[in-house]
Amino acid sequence: MGRVAVVTGGSRGIGARVAVELKEAGHKVAATYAGNEERAREFTEETGIPAYKFDVGSFAECEKGFAQIAEDLGGPVEILINNAGITRDGVLHRMTPEQWQDVIQTNLSGCFNACRAVIEGMRESGFGRIVNVGSVNGQAGQYGQVNYAAAKSGIHGFTKALAQEGARHHITVNAIAPGYVDTDMVRAVPEKVLEKIISRIPAGRLGRAHDIARGVMFLVAEDADFITGSTLSINGGQHMY
Ligand code: CAA
Repeated sequence: MGRVAVVTGGSRGIGARVAVELKEAGHKVAATYAGNEERAREFTEETGIPAYKFDVGSFAECEKGFAQIAEDLGGPVEILINNAGITRDGVLHRMTPEQWQDVIQTNLSGCFNACRAVIEGMRESGFGRIVNVGSVNGQAGQYGQVNYAAAKSGIHGFTKALAQEGARHHITVNAIAPGYVDTDMVRAVPEKVLEKIISRIPAGRLGRAHDIARGVMFLVAEDADFITGSTLSINGGQHMY
């Protein structure tokens, strides 16, 4: 059965792969993106998946954006993948309040804003699948990422709390904690640092977007009703948690 599914930050990287696999599974999918119009246009041309531009860090924009998607796709959003995320890496002693705030706003408040925009529809439907994309760096910490690690760690707590609220309404809420996946975000890590990180991944390679999408598809399945509040680590063995 096709459901209305939204992937935030869904026009590239992990999100784009997730959006495509949701569509291949028969869902009606929309992606959201924040700024890169060219990539979003290419994504829509290649996949036929519409991409909506709004800032997940803004409560008001989320309310409006999600309402528009529900109207255009013909039903309440029943699958939400909170994937949008940014990095503003730097050591704490040089980190600016803006670097801190931007990451918390997009990565953590964005998750709240998106969930808040769809939760009433899910409660009315008596069905919902929410998957929040955390990170190995939210589980284990990472040098140069107090902002990102705090936000992603927050995602893991958020997931467990909302899972308790949703369970009786057949709304499952789970997290995936990806390791280092071959995307624009990871390619921005200085080469020397990245080499060191890869050398510590038992699988000996970066993840692929499909490795993460595979986990998402498992968690959003119709018969996954009893899987809630869990965190699925997909990191090539880098951190076992
Ligand atoms: N552990 C210990 N020391 C480290 C370290 C680490 N992990 N990383 C860097 N250092 C050390 C360096 O060796 C260096 O020491 P020396 O001066 O003695 O040589 C010192 O810290 C300064 O390092 P840099 O020269 O790199 O300093 P910088 O200020 O230019 O940059 C940084 C610091 C921004 C943190 C940079 O090292 C960096 O970008 N690191 C990568 C951070 C990272 O992994 N980000 C993940 C992005 S991908 C992602 O977030 C997706 C996901 O979910 C997994």
